[in-house]
Amino acid sequence: SGPATVSPTGQETGADRAAVAQGGEYLTTAQGTRLYDTDHSLKAGPRGPVLLQDHHLREKVMHFDHERIPERVVHARGAAAHGVFTSYGTAASITKAAFLAKDVETPVFVRFSTVLGSRGSADTVRDTRGFATKFYTSEGVFDLVGNNIPVFFIQDAIKFPDVIHAGKPHPDREIPQAQSAHDTFWDFVTLHTEATHHTLWNMSDRGIPRSFRTMEGFGVHTFRLVDAEGGTTLVKFHWKPKLGVHSLVWEEAQILSGVDPDFHRRDLADAIEAGAYPEWELGIQTFPDTPEQTFEGIDLLDPTNIVPEELAPVQPVGRLVLDRNPSNFFAETEQVAFHVGHLVPGIDITDDPLLAGRLFSYLDTQITRLGGPNFPQIPINRPHAPVNDMLRDSFHQTAVHRGVAPYRPNSLDGGCPFTADGAHGAFVETPVRVPEATKVRAAPESFQDHFSQPRRFWLSMSPVEREHIIGAYTFELGKCYEQAVKERALQVLANIDGELCARVAEGLGLPAPEPTVPLADVQPSPALSQVGRTWPTD
Ligand code: HEM
Repeated sequence: SGPATVSPTGQETGADRAAVAQGGEYLTTAQGTRLYDTDHSLKAGPRGPVLLQDHHLREKVMHFDHERIPERVVHARGAAAHGVFTSYGTAASITKAAFLAKDVETPVFVRFSTVLGSRGSADTVRDTRGFATKFYTSEGVFDLVGNNIPVFFIQDAIKFPDVIHAGKPHPDREIPQAQSAHDTFWDFVTLHTEATHHTLWNMSDRGIPRSFRTMEGFGVHTFRLVDAEGGTTLVKFHWKPKLGVHSLVWEEAQILSGVDPDFHRRDLADAIEAGAYPEWELGIQTFPDTPEQTFEGIDLLDPTNIVPEELAPVQPVGRLVLDRNPSNFFAETEQVAFHVGHLVPGIDITDDPLLAGRLFSYLDTQITRLGGPNFPQIPINRPHAPVNDMLRDSFHQTAVHRGVAPYRPNSLDGGCPFTADGAHGAFVETPVRVPEATKVRAAPESFQDHFSQPRRFWLSMSPVEREHIIGAYTFELGKCYEQAVKERALQVLANIDGELCARVAEGLGLPAPEPTVPLADVQPSPALSQVGRTWPTD
């Protein structure tokens, strides 16, 4: 069923309207007037001056002049595909989300991206990769806006502008354009040591995936699932690629950046075109929703933490198959607008302070990027569920809304009823107790341990993965100009592991410092290593 809005021509769907923009047998102006020549300006004689009265010339050049829209402030470079998500029903006992009931098929659109490079940058740089999925469910859009790395640099969204300013090219020379080998990045991540875990993942093989098809995806934050009775469970979302997790080696990544900067987007599109449809399983780790919101001593509200899969196995809940390439990059890949706040009944947020800032940021940035608040009407963003909102007017409004009373209750237009009962509505607050507290700008004590989890990751690596990590730190830090930044980076490494620090220090020709904190007594998590990893379950 379509949205309860109509276009001026009475059509209901964006697809119809897109077809109208390119129909008919003859070339026309934007007003539909037939043209007989689009190659010559109107002139006073063949060698005379061009005439201002040539509307076709002005319209054509004017429209071209405005073709570009701002690229995303982060994740500007991406590639996407359509597909289908089929649920197993294994999560149905803990969430009332309709698309997670047994055997439900839901259309999806997935966009993969790098984070720091501009739209024209290379695919195979060392960076985090975005893995954003739009589920067009029968209950409205659900977006899972994740990355291929399960932790984040910062614990509080108020630092997001800072970490991105540090990671983007230097403001003076705009160098480097798409990777982490520079002073401001290393300055930030060594002054804000909560970034240590994410940085270590970036310096591992995860920072240079072989293909989007061989990447894991992670929702990062802990989410709250809600069942039909109001019972709640905390979860972390995981995407597991059917092809396994594979990376490039650094030399391959560097060569590919020059030989084929489109390597990842070409690989995705070619695979789909050839019928080798990429597949992932969606899985969840589940945790009891206790007042502390911790699991085995791990703070579930801290997005720099993982929960090792040995402690909480990933349980498969459905399967994603990407089977169709976009037909228009701009209309789909560029105009798609993901948002962590696009939730459906049965999936709720937690008090992770990074997530809170994201809830504001995406909507806000899309108002600029997509030219006003009506971007949910763009075909790729339209829910596949009826829309009956009270949002009106503004820039790029293409709907002609019916009725006279966009407010509720009203006695003129049939009332605009809410859903009949709270059970089927979204944004019904889950009754979670907020602790009695005094307002404060501070992080909890449980957010202060920045080295135990990186140490676990390091200890979980196979020998070859460790060599790659040592090589990556040595290469990237070797590109820094500031000696003090390199020294601080070595101090961070000393707090993770002595061998890691000593080997990188040797490569940089600097002394290896002693740790400033006791090295954590943690066990390796074999599931973190890409070597010998088995997934999916079949
Ligand atoms: C874009 C993931 C943290 C602001 C994206 C995209 C992904 C992503 C995958 C690209 C979406 C697309 O393909 O269009 C994440 C993850 C985070 C995180 C996994 C941490 C767990 C943040 C934070 C902020 C933020 C803390 C701001 C406070 C943005 C913005 C965009 C973006 C402004 C551009 C959106 C657009 O223009 O449509 N993020 N992000 N992100 N992210 Fe994040």
